Amino acid sequence: MNNLISMRDLKRAEIESILDFAARIEQGDVRPDLTGKLAALLFAEPSTRTHFSFDTAMKRMGGQTLSMSGTSSTSLQKGESLADTLKTISMYADLIVLRSAVEGSARFASEVVDIPVINAGDGANQHPTQALLDLYSIIKTQGRLDGLSIALVGDLKFGRTAHSLVQALSEFSPRFFFISPQHLALPSYLLEDLREAGVPYQELTSLDGIVPDLDIMYVTRVQRERFVDPEEYERVKNSYVITPAVLEGAQPTLRVLHPLPRVNEVSTAVDRTTHAYYFQQAANGVPVRQAILAKLLGTEGTK
Ligand code: NCD
Repeated sequence: MNNLISMRDLKRAEIESILDFAARIEQGDVRPDLTGKLAALLFAEPSTRTHFSFDTAMKRMGGQTLSMSGTSSTSLQKGESLADTLKTISMYADLIVLRSAVEGSARFASEVVDIPVINAGDGANQHPTQALLDLYSIIKTQGRLDGLSIALVGDLKFGRTAHSLVQALSEFSPRFFFISPQHLALPSYLLEDLREAGVPYQELTSLDGIVPDLDIMYVTRVQRERFVDPEEYERVKNSYVITPAVLEGAQPTLRVLHPLPRVNEVSTAVDRTTHAYYFQQAANGVPVRQAILAKLLGTEGTK
């Protein structure tokens, strides 16, 4: 693994190796040492969890970070090309973590620099490190990844975390329920991949009747910033609101996941139920990103 750009590039064995490494880091069985290593965290779009958990992960392993939040203080504002900016930063840092509104930007970055690149979200396309921490959260709560019933709920069109998670889980014999308004359905290229791989899925517009079947309910925010027409956003923004009443009849082991930030699609009353797992999910971002950084920087370390 030289870069982490898309979940499509990772097969089951590589996914399992990252998750296993993250578990050993979290349990303290292995302590990668990144002393002297510098990661450039370049976030052209807003971020709380992804940015700060990458920062935390580097620092927990003795490494250091350079950070950019928005482009307003960089020479991109003077008209410098993204390629020149990235080439320059690659002279200072050992690895680049990039978030951008432009689909394909992380792949592009990996082609113009000689250091590892991690995609921290490229427009509505991919968010592979989120998918890996989602899988890690699923194993922790369900004890396994194989053969689970998973509903993805909300904006499946623009939600990059949903795209990466669907690809990641496809390796583990899932049964999928895709719940979205018709206009926010999962892109057809992803559905085609599922059909080709023989993965069963149902596309629905409501959760009615399926909640008792689920192991995982993965809820996503309607991605306001990706809508061309604000009125269209207004029409769909409240399509699903998960409340304790919606979860009645669920298996006790059902866990509600959400990449966060939430707007109002999961009511705060759900936080007090045993089904809520989204804040622990965010915490899981640290060991998973430690594992990814240590692997890409070639310092897996021993105790
Ligand atoms: C997600 C993202 O940026 O795609 N956030 C995150 O990284 N946890 C989800 C979102 O913004 O809705």
